[in-house]
Amino acid sequence: MANETVPVVKHYTRNNLMERIRTALVEADYDPDQPTVEMLSELDHLHGGGYATTRTQARLANIPHGCHVLDAGCGIGGPSRYLAGRLGCTVEAIDLTPEYVEIARQLNESVGLGDRISVQIGNVTELPFEDESFDVVLCQNVTMNVADKPAMFAEALRVLKPGGLYTISHLAEGPNGPPIYPLPWARTPETSFLETPLKILDLLSQAGFSAVEDVAQQSSTKPGEGSPPRTIGAAPAMGDDIVVRTGNSSQSVRDGRLIPMIILARRPS
Ligand SMILES: C[S@@+](CC[C@H](N)C(=O)[O-])C[C@H]1O[C@@H](n2cnc3c(N)ncnc32)[C@H](O)[C@@H]1O
Repeated sequence: MANETVPVVKHYTRNNLMERIRTALVEADYDPDQPTVEMLSELDHLHGGGYATTRTQARLANIPHGCHVLDAGCGIGGPSRYLAGRLGCTVEAIDLTPEYVEIARQLNESVGLGDRISVQIGNVTELPFEDESFDVVLCQNVTMNVADKPAMFAEALRVLKPGGLYTISHLAEGPNGPPIYPLPWARTPETSFLETPLKILDLLSQAGFSAVEDVAQQSSTKPGEGSPPRTIGAAPAMGDDIVVRTGNSSQSVRDGRLIPMIILARRPS
């Protein structure tokens, strides 16, 4: 494991996560024994804007119905279930955090998508897949935890089929100083590895991607925004202080310390 991965896993590990999810569902008047993708979408999209951002990113990326997708850094699997349940995709998902992987698997089974999504522990810088396996690689709010972005982008290119699409949502370094901590992905700078938007786009081109563009301006929701109101929110999976951490992220965006990006990039045909 790379040096930074141990504190990253520690940052995300909650312990008793399924119990926390079940409690949140009960408090929202749902039956935790009969969850649906829609119910879970109130708590399982672990990025700014939550489910709305996943839907917008899938639309901007024009993810084809029924394609084969890698969810790279899948968290507890909300985006994977959206892709499989709504877009009919088959999904392979990996994540560094063992507890998230286990919960993602259980939730996939509980909503009847266990046969369309497979989940395993893995690192985006060393993907456990054959060359040219996927039509699309989706990566949401993961790059901020990854120091070795050249390796991450090279691996995404390798596992994409020629002509395949890499779509990343994340927060980049802004011009107005360091962001305000604690943040959703890092309580201290120890697990936060930001680059400027220009550097990110440049690294993708250097890795071999073409048609690299940032389409965040076309989105009504942004990776740095808080969860939409009236949903359960990310506290069960991300911690009870997530409201403060998301608030710091939103303030940092307003201050020009962070810049939300939604990136599309193609593996050349
Ligand atoms: C903010 S969460 C986003 C989860 C998911 N993409 C979503 O949007 O719901 C960040 C996730 O990235 C994972 N992660 C961080 N570094 C990683 C790495 N090097 N390889 C794989 N997963 C990683 C964490 O374990 C965590 O689940």
